[in-house]
Formats: sequence, C-alpha cells, structure tokens
Amino acid sequence: MTKDKSRPGLRSALSFGKRDKDGFIHRSWMKSEGLPDDVFDGRPVIGICNTWSELTPCNAHLRDIADHVKRGVWEAGALPLEFPAMSLGETQMRPTAMLFRNLLAMEVEESIRGNPIDGVVLLGGCDKTTAGQLLGAASVDLPTIVVSSGPMLNGKFRGADIGSGTDVWRFSEDVRSGRMSLDDFMSAEEGMSRSPGTCMTMGTASTIACLTEALGLSLPYNGTLPAADSRRRALAHKSGRAIVELVTKGLSISHFLTRHSFENAIRLHAALGGSTNVVIHLLALAGRLGVPVSLQDFDDLGKGVPLLVDLQPSGRWLMEDFHYAGGVPALSTRLRDRLHTDCDTVTGMKIGEIIDRAETYNDEVIRPNANPVDPNSGVWVLKGNLCPDGAILKPSAASSELFHHRGRALVFESIEDFKERIDDPGLDVDKESVLVLKGCGPTGYPGMPEVGNMSLPKKLLALGVRDMVRLTDARMSGTAFGTIVLHVSPESAVGGPLALVRDGDQIELDGPRRRLELLVAEKELVQRRAEWQRNRPPVKFKRGYYRLYVDHVLQADRGCDLDFLVGKSDSLVERESH
Ligand code: FES
Repeated sequence: MTKDKSRPGLRSALSFGKRDKDGFIHRSWMKSEGLPDDVFDGRPVIGICNTWSELTPCNAHLRDIADHVKRGVWEAGALPLEFPAMSLGETQMRPTAMLFRNLLAMEVEESIRGNPIDGVVLLGGCDKTTAGQLLGAASVDLPTIVVSSGPMLNGKFRGADIGSGTDVWRFSEDVRSGRMSLDDFMSAEEGMSRSPGTCMTMGTASTIACLTEALGLSLPYNGTLPAADSRRRALAHKSGRAIVELVTKGLSISHFLTRHSFENAIRLHAALGGSTNVVIHLLALAGRLGVPVSLQDFDDLGKGVPLLVDLQPSGRWLMEDFHYAGGVPALSTRLRDRLHTDCDTVTGMKIGEIIDRAETYNDEVIRPNANPVDPNSGVWVLKGNLCPDGAILKPSAASSELFHHRGRALVFESIEDFKERIDDPGLDVDKESVLVLKGCGPTGYPGMPEVGNMSLPKKLLALGVRDMVRLTDARMSGTAFGTIVLHVSPESAVGGPLALVRDGDQIELDGPRRRLELLVAEKELVQRRAEWQRNRPPVKFKRGYYRLYVDHVLQADRGCDLDFLVGKSDSLVERESH
C-alpha cells in the first residue's frame, strides 16, 4: 500500500488512512472500480452528490456535468466520488415534489455523514433538489459547493420567446376564455422546453440557483449560465478545483451561511422578483444552522429594494437574457449599497470583489435603480386574524388595483372541490369575490402543493376578468402570477382560522398595511372552531414517509422542515461498520 500521507483533520483518513482490517475493507472494495492504490495516499475525497434522473428532466444532463466537476477535482489532487441522491422532478411527482424535499435532505445528510468524504459538490437544479441538498449538507457542515443545472434556452413559439410555466398558465387561461385554440396550445408545448436545464423564467429553480451566488456557495454565474452553454461545463470544472481548495482551508458551509449572507440573499431575492417558494427553503436552511432568520425578515429587508430584473413572471425577459445582461454579479452592482460586501464566497473572493469585476450589458433586462420594473418587490408578509403566523403576497406578480380589496368569500374545501365547481355556470361569483382554497397546506395535502394560482372562473374570464384576490394555505409555482395570498399559516388542516371561513364571509386585504382579516365576529368564530373540532377529520396516513411527514412537518412560516431535522449534527461518526 502507498505510504499514508493523510492530512490531519481529514475525515476520509479515518477510513482510507488505516493500516488495519478496517482500512483494508474501506480501500479494497473501492479498488474494484479501478482506482489505483496511490489515490488512497491521504488526498482529500470529494463527494459529488448527483440528483441526475431521467424522471427529472431539469437534472437529466447532470451526469455530464459531474464528469466536468471530476476533472477539476482530479486536477487539484483530490479523489472525486460521485453518489446519487433522490431526484425530485417538479413536473412528475405526485402529490407534489415538495412532500419529498425533507426526505431528500435526510438522504443527503446521512449519505454525506456516513461516507468517507471531506467535501461535497451538490449537483441539482429542479426546484426541490437544490433545496433538499442544501438542507442535508448544512446539517453535516462540511465544505460544500453548489453547481446548478442551469436554465433551459429560451422557449420559442411562432417566432416569439415563451417562458416555462408562466406561459403555460397564460395560455391555459387563454384556451379557457376562447382566446387561443387547443391546437395552438398543443403546438406551443413543443417549443417551450427545447434544451436541457431548468425552467428559464425566474421560477423557484432560477431563484435558488441565483441565491447560491448571493449566499457565497457557488462560483459567479452559476445561477444564470444556460445548461446548454459550454461555459457551464467550465464552471463545473472550476468548481471541482474550488472544492478541493475549500477542504484544504477547512471552510465548511456554515462559514458562508451567516446572518449577513442571508440578508444579502433576501435583498437579492427582492430585486430578482424571486419565487415565493424560496422563502420557505431559506427559512428551513437557516433553521438547520441556527442562523436567526424569520419570515418577517423577508418583508423588512426587501422593503425599499426595487424590482430590477425584468424577467417573467414579474416582467418580460427570460434567463438567457439575464445571463447575457451580466447575471447576478451585474445585478449586485446595482444593489451594492444594500449588500454586505465583506461576506466570503467559495471563490476565495469577497462579494464586493466579485461586484468590482462585474459589468451590466443590458439595462432593459437588469434595470438601473432609477428605472425599476416595479417599485414593489420582494414579498409582503401579511398578518391578521386569518393568518396569525403570517401569509405572503408577491406584489410584483399581483395587480396593484387589488392591493386594497374587500369581498365575499367563495370557499373551496379541497382542490377536488375547486376543480369540480370553478367552471360551473351557476357558480355564485363575481369579480369582487375572494376565492378561498383550503386543505392544501403542509399536512393537509400533504406537502403544500403549487395549486395556489387557482384558475379564474370561466364565466368571469369570458367577461374579460384577468385577476382576482385568491387566498390559500398552498404554495404556487415560482413561475406563476396573480393577486394570490399564499402560505396562510397555520394551515386549515390543523385548525388555522382559514378552516373557519365560510361562503359569504367578508374578507379584507390591505397589502400596503400588511393586513388580512376575516370580518366575522369573534363569538361566531369561537362557535365555528368548536364545530370544527367536533368534526375534525382523522389523520389519513397510517404508515411510511407520509405518516412521518404529517406527524412532524412544521408550518410554512418555519420553512416546512420536519421538527426533528431542525439544527445540525455535524459530521463525526465514531463507530466502524465491521
Ligand atoms: Fe424543474 Fe421547473 S420543472 S425547474
């Protein structure tokens, strides 16, 4: 065996550095992969956590990306070892990929902790994969770098750009209102997703990929480089070199995930017009590391930050355009005075040094502060008797004429109830009504699906109505739009006030004052609560992960993590397996 040159402190040395029966076992079976003896000479071992899957189209090119990461790791003198992690395809998984984010996080956490790895590169892209990987990696707290899938090329339909998700919702409403034929709708499907990569709107995947840059966890342009661009492979290669450097310096993920870096991410989220889902993911991530971040921070820190990135669903352009305009570093130049520029990044540079090197190439896509897309950005955190623990509204995706609104509730007890009745010509609804959808929170669905962007009633679409106030305990796709109050907490299934709303109740939304009120006398609400308690439905799920999830999931204002996963356990495992 090659002489043991294990560097003190490398956890891989606890396995590969032993000159005994245990060391024999750890090394010998690895040699079946064709690894020569001298790669076990004490060099760092880099895990490449890959959520590749053909069932997750947004991640289906990640085997190729992994090969480029490996080149960089080998070149820097370390040993790369790729391993799989559960892949969560947003467009395929029932009842919702979000149900499994925490399961992925558990798998990633224990895969990293249980193996002789010194640092890890997370390869993910589709919304919940990046989030789940980050949560798991944070709880182990090794040196970590994120390499994202990268967005798809802009969609194309009849010579015009079309955006993932956003144009699906738009076209679907056009078909329902008779403004688009079904044939045209079906042809648009072919041109929307025409390359590898994630949704190319500012949906959840794009938002979280961009925020990995703001958090200092990836190389510049990780958030925006298209998946099909050869420079993403180069970025993967350089990330392979960078993770070895991080291991050498002993800089773990918690070194970068600080209160200040979260503040940077939240401000950038506002300027991006980022997805509402990312609010939940960042809260859960902060919870893993004990960084004090609350739901209210998103409103407080985003206040006054203008929407600068003119991307769908809040604006016009798509991710390719954002990248060519200069991406996150260029956007950060416009936010410089609001960012903590002394935050470290995995590049070895401070955020401020990255900003110093950045340029903006298109002021239409990345607007100057003096000419924002919208002065309203970020998320509004609403409070009131309907949402004692908060609810959120994305003002840039909403209609400003509905920011102040009072209307009578039209209640749907479940998504099935909604689908069955929404297009009923006899539905008692007008454009002032407030559509209320229950039963779609973390435990209620379960998994808090993206059904919050409820379609409008067909009969109102025919009258030209294009937006209404809607409220729910569900999420909505980051690519969606509308005046929709989301993440109402506590959810209806655990007896939150949303459960007590009935048809005809008056509901008042006052966005600028951040209020959401159910205008029903307290005495009446007490009676309704007693009735709800008497008729409370039994827990539906008796076994397996579903049962674990509904028994332990936290509400949206706490990031929907499982209560026993909050915090971290670090990486030490003392006992051997044989
Ligand atoms: Fe995977 Fe949108 S469906 S990123």
